Parts: sequence; structure tokens; C-alpha cells
Amino acid sequence: MTTDHFALPEDTDRKTRVLTFTNGSAGSGKTTAAAALGYAAASRGKKVCILGMDKQRDVSRLLGYDDPDGDEELPTLHDVIDDVCTLDEAAVPARNTKTGEPIKNLWVVLESKKLDTLEFKLAGMTARELWLFRLLPQLRGRFDIIGIDCPGDVKLATIGALIAGDEIVGCTKSQEKEARGLTELEDKITEVHAAYGHMGMRNGLDWVVIGEGVTNNSQGKVYADIEAQVREAYGELAVKPTVRDDVKVPEAYTAGQPVTLYHPKCDAAVAYTKIGRQMKLYR
Ligand SMILES: Nc1ncnc2c1ncn2[C@@H]1O[C@H](COP(=O)(O)OP(=O)(O)OP(=O)(O)O)[C@@H](O)[C@H]1O
Ligand SMILES: [Mg+2]
Repeated sequence: MTTDHFALPEDTDRKTRVLTFTNGSAGSGKTTAAAALGYAAASRGKKVCILGMDKQRDVSRLLGYDDPDGDEELPTLHDVIDDVCTLDEAAVPARNTKTGEPIKNLWVVLESKKLDTLEFKLAGMTARELWLFRLLPQLRGRFDIIGIDCPGDVKLATIGALIAGDEIVGCTKSQEKEARGLTELEDKITEVHAAYGHMGMRNGLDWVVIGEGVTNNSQGKVYADIEAQVREAYGELAVKPTVRDDVKVPEAYTAGQPVTLYHPKCDAAVAYTKIGRQMKLYR
């Protein structure tokens, strides 16, 4: 690895957009979206860091690290919480799983299976909801975009990201469970904002990404109905297009790559690329 080229970007005081990918429900497309948009932006020259918060370590895997716990040299978010290293020290270059090569402009703060103790560890901290707010200045100013891939619930880890981030990206599928998860998330945002709004956190969703819709109504009217309801409820916040059901997404998962890297021309990758443009992550 040419370390200089892939050294953590200097703090140049650039304006960083911190995007929190979240939903009250698991399996709503958070990780797929964070990795796909992160790679799309990095491949267009933006400096991007993805911060993984899930003990299942999916985004770490999509960014080239199948088993961060298997290599003692690799720092993880868990080490940051344990004060073994700082957050900036924990950002490592993302890798293309297929070639093993670092991916230009893309970094990742890796996850550990030990993050299953995160809630417990944070619970003992003073002003625990601010845990990430206090850490994030170590990364701000170095990147154009920081994407936080939340776990599938709205507990302390996610609440910390809601307060620390700049924009909240609600990820949903056109199904009842994930759409309800979005409502649950909004209730939580209102509650957290009442306590922490003075610190600059947003009072509501900034973007809604709808993943895994179906292509034609005969496959299930219920999907089309829920998609229409979500679009009506969120209006312009709900970015277009809906990311349709595409087998390349699970294939990319198996390959350990963001779908925008795995198959840039597939329907899902094209949709995510358009969504990133609509979110003004790149031109
Ligand atoms: N457009 C799509 N087409 C087909 N499958 C999809 C699509 N989007 C997501 N999936 C599948 O849905 C599952 C959940 O997606 P993903 O892991 O991104 O959700 P998540 O919100 O991060 O889940 P978790 O809460 O477990 O972290 C994955 O198996 C993924 O392959
Ligand atoms: Mg996930």
C-alpha cells in the first residue's frame, strides 16, 4: 500500500456533511445505501469516510474488511470507545474485496463484534447521548462526507449519531415494517431534539431513501400502496427513484462490495447514483 496516497486526509477545515443512515427497523437498506452512496461519491472525487456502528459488521465487510476482529492490528470503533485509540486513528482505507487494493478517497471506521457491549458501555458515561458528538470533530474538516451506518434500532448508539450528524437519512423499504420503523424514528428524533436541539441537531428527517420496491404492481399492490404512502407523507424529502428489487444487491453483499462498485450499471447502482446526485453529494 502506498501509505502517503492512502493516509488519512489532513484537516483542511473543509465543510463536512455528516449523514446518519438510520431507521427504527432492521433490514431497511441502511448499509446498502451507506456503502453504495459512499462509493459513488468517492469514485467522483469526494473524500468520504463511512463509520460503522453495527456489531454485525456488514458495512466493514462491504468496504473490504471481512473480519476486523481477526486482525489485532486493525482498529475498530470499539477500540475508540475503550480509549485504545482516537477516532481519527481508527479510520482506515476502504478496500476492494476482489482485488485487495485500497479504494481511492474512501475510508472506514471498522466495526467489531464487541460492539454488542456498546449500549452497556455508553450507559455508564456522563452525558452519554453526546458520545459521538464529542468524537466527531476528530474527523470533521478532513472529509467531504461522513456516513454513519446505524444499527437497526434507535438506542444510544443511534441517538448519539442523530445528535452528532448534520443530516438524517431515513432508509426504508416499501413494506409495512420498515415504513413503521420510519415513524418510530421520527418520534425518537422529536424526543431527542427536545433535549438536544440547542446543539444544532435537526428536528426531522432530511432525506428518505426507499429501497427494494417492486417493479410491477402485479408483484404486490401492497408494496406500491406503501411506497405511494411514503412518498405522500414525505414529499420532496423522499428522493427518487425508488431502488427496485435487484438481485445484484445481495450478490454485491456476497462479493463484499458496495453495489455501485460491484456492478455500476445494474438498476440498483444506477438508482443509488441518481439518489446521490439528488442529495447533492456530487454533480
Ligand atoms: N434493492 C434491493 N434489492 C434486493 N435486495 C435488497 C435491496 N436492498 C436491500 N436488499 C437486501 O435487504 C437486506 C437488508 O439490507 P441492508 O443490510 O442494507 O439493511 P440494513 O438496514 O442495513 O439492515 P440491518 O438493520 O440488519 O443493519 C440485505 O440482504 C440486502 O441484500
Ligand atoms: Mg446494516
